[in-house]
Amino acid sequence: MLRVVVMVSGGGTNLQAIIDGVASGTITNTVLAGVISNNKMVKSLERAKQAGIPAVSVSPGEYRDRESFNSALLEAVDAFSPDLVVLAGFLVKIPDQMVHKYAGRIINIHPSLIPSFCGVGFYGLKVHESALKRGVKITGATVHFVTEGMDEGPIISQKPVPVEEGDTPEALQKRVMEQAEWILLPKAIDDIANGRISLRGK
Ligand code: GAR
Repeated sequence: MLRVVVMVSGGGTNLQAIIDGVASGTITNTVLAGVISNNKMVKSLERAKQAGIPAVSVSPGEYRDRESFNSALLEAVDAFSPDLVVLAGFLVKIPDQMVHKYAGRIINIHPSLIPSFCGVGFYGLKVHESALKRGVKITGATVHFVTEGMDEGPIISQKPVPVEEGDTPEALQKRVMEQAEWILLPKAIDDIANGRISLRGK
């Protein structure tokens, strides 16, 4: 069984898609070992609680500096002994120390077709605002392995989603989640859990 830790910052709809995937059998060979949030966002912690998954919050504001926060974050991850760490809308940069320790075992979902609208400053709604501003007609989502560079790791899967006339950032975000994110991320976990995908050389 693949032990998975899910890291979240927001409302946790991707977390919910993973929970539902495990419950329905779309994701197999997987146990959700824990959820880590970088804030006390009630919704995500509530989703974990509802599903009986241990959940903790590790907020930067509670630590004297970035280094202490990074150590606490790594400790929280280590405590769950995960085989795979899933960044499901985790909007904090993963400390390099963690990237190295879990090389090839951290994946992230990003709400655009990388390499468009990614990297520093592109997260959450901002990604969709930028896509609309640029006037692209197709956007989508990407699941990738996490390496040191922001959104630069090897791509696992991508799915295109059309931009529609009159879209607001919120409407586009919802379509990208429904048509791409909530499908791609559970599938990537299932593929990893069943040995269909791994980072070569790891
Ligand atoms: C998702 O759209 C996810 O792709 C994005 O944050 C949102 C979190 O929503 N992640 C990034 O932008 C990472 N750079 P959720 O909390 O409802 O899953």
